[in-house]
Amino acid sequence: MPNKTNSSLFDSPIERRASDSTKWSRFSSKEHDVIGAWIADMDLPTSDKIIDAIKDRLDERVFGYSEPPDQFFDVVINRLEKKYGWTTKQEWFVPQPGVVPSLFFASNCFGDTGDGVMAARPNYRYFLETAEHTGRTFQPVDCQVNHGRWEMDFDQMHQTISPRTKTFLLCNPHNPVGRVLDQQELETIADACLANGTIICSDEIHADLVLDTDKQHVPIASLDPSIEKKSITLISASKAFNLPAIGGLSLAIIPDQDIRAAFQKRAYGVATHPGALAYAATMTAFEECDDWLTEAIGYLRDNRDYLEAQITGIDGLAMTHVEATFLAWIDVSNSGLRNPLSTFLDHGVALSDGADMGNPDHVRLNFACHRSTLEEIVRRLKTGLS
Ligand SMILES: Cc1ncc(COP(=O)(O)O)c(C=O)c1O
Repeated sequence: MPNKTNSSLFDSPIERRASDSTKWSRFSSKEHDVIGAWIADMDLPTSDKIIDAIKDRLDERVFGYSEPPDQFFDVVINRLEKKYGWTTKQEWFVPQPGVVPSLFFASNCFGDTGDGVMAARPNYRYFLETAEHTGRTFQPVDCQVNHGRWEMDFDQMHQTISPRTKTFLLCNPHNPVGRVLDQQELETIADACLANGTIICSDEIHADLVLDTDKQHVPIASLDPSIEKKSITLISASKAFNLPAIGGLSLAIIPDQDIRAAFQKRAYGVATHPGALAYAATMTAFEECDDWLTEAIGYLRDNRDYLEAQITGIDGLAMTHVEATFLAWIDVSNSGLRNPLSTFLDHGVALSDGADMGNPDHVRLNFACHRSTLEEIVRRLKTGLS
């Protein structure tokens, strides 16, 4: 069994039962102890530096409408340059209250009713749903496992993409399959999109959560100026630094003026302004918390290694290697269970339903929890199968 790295920051478990946690409270009751392993947040405490930055802002005691802190965009621009060699400009940034609203705005900022929105399947559920909710037609690119790795069916993509495909919603790293898309895959997608005038909206919320040391996240917009010009890149500190409860703040990075204007028109009057606490937290996360992030990734990597080893040993369950994210996409098609999701829930583990993400043969397990919790999850999964 893989060893756990000694990680003092995360060694003490934080009890989340009976807290305000969505993940833990949704399926639990006094009579039924359920471990929350579904929605994608972490049980790990965020960095003390972020907590201090929030406290400092609270100490100002006045909470009128606020602007981003002075250094905010410099911090983000420097980070993108340093991490990815991607040079961005302040006027490209459109602050948003979350990544999900931006997926919806990107889906129909150009084109007409019935035009296409393309995305890989399986995918984070909103990628599959935006088309229907924005009057568009969903064009799936199905994924399959090749040599142990989830890959998009690029033949299908080439056959179905057309000038009526107005937006390609890309999820990279790819939730739920845990892939870091490589340069060749990104170029294949970009070439097809450029040839058809399709805007690429790339959700890179998991970019800071690459677990494999030999993999590197590449923002698709950074590949070439021609791709950059057709792109909307969505980033946020919320996932990697575990900040969803602080209030939403994401950034849509839109280099082209016309695309930016169309996006802003969609968002007008709908998207609220991010709050001061979220700005303080995000700026500190992006500027000062790389040490914390390294420890968090180490902890998650250990959890992943433990989980992969365990799942391999459980008859009826299978998972592919998780390169990034803290989400395991588990194949339950050979479990012999009629309804694996509800069976595991009955045995005290709440997982995400694969059907919501385009594949009912799978469940998604969030392993961003204390190691003792993960061990208990594994015990309960085994009991559910016995
Ligand atoms: C790929 C992806 N995009 C977006 C989100 C949610 O983003 P937000 O909370 O900023 O709307 C999640 C959360 O799990 C996610 O996995």
